[in-house]
Amino acid sequence: MAFVVAIDGPAGSGKGTITKIVGEKMNLINIDTGAMYRCVTLACLEKEIKPEDNDKISEVLESIDIKLEKQNEKNLVFLNGKDVSEEIRTTRVNENVAKFAAIKIIRDKITPIERKMGEIQDVIMEGRDIGTVVFPDADVKIYLDCSLEERARRRYKQNLQKGINSSYEEVLENIKQRHKLETERDIAPFVKAEDAIYIDSTNLTIEEVTEKIIEIISKKKLEISNKN
Ligand code: DC
Repeated sequence: MAFVVAIDGPAGSGKGTITKIVGEKMNLINIDTGAMYRCVTLACLEKEIKPEDNDKISEVLESIDIKLEKQNEKNLVFLNGKDVSEEIRTTRVNENVAKFAAIKIIRDKITPIERKMGEIQDVIMEGRDIGTVVFPDADVKIYLDCSLEERARRRYKQNLQKGINSSYEEVLENIKQRHKLETERDIAPFVKAEDAIYIDSTNLTIEEVTEKIIEIISKKKLEISNKN
């Protein structure tokens, strides 16, 4: 295993933005695992496959090709060769992704891909189960929390900026539903790893959270280099 930083946190906790900044500053490859679950969801929705249709999902998984690439400072997501970076963030995918992410065969496909990525390069990987399931031995584990209302406010603002039409109430309802599905599912439920460092970002700026995480990573790197 290379140097692995696991950042687990709910939608709207700021983890996407923070992971990107910290990754760049600390020279770690930034991996958005939610994007992978979003790709599988999009692939299934395109074929009108329902979450209960395991056989058809298996077929999709057999031939699926997901690539995360950085081009001109932008993190792009490719599904079977097509740039779906925007499409995976639509309301349609938002409303369905938690159901697909709770399916065992889908998690069994994504988890080894994530592990492989963290074996060959130093990474900062964000998701829900990185510190608990994917990399229980990660060098640094952060659990980034935030209140439901603040998360909804942030997501609503992001949507406005992207020109996505939604009301605050709709966004809050979607965030609540997803949170319930993610925390109550049987496989890899979204919980804090016992040894993760808890940061509540509700009343903190992006810069404040970023600084805290960089400090934690730097301390860990120093510890490792002193040992060697
Ligand atoms: O972080 P996000 O909102 O893009 O995640 C999309 C969905 O995928 C969300 O419902 C949680 C799920 N997910 C997961 O179950 N495990 C991960 N490691 C990452 C995301």
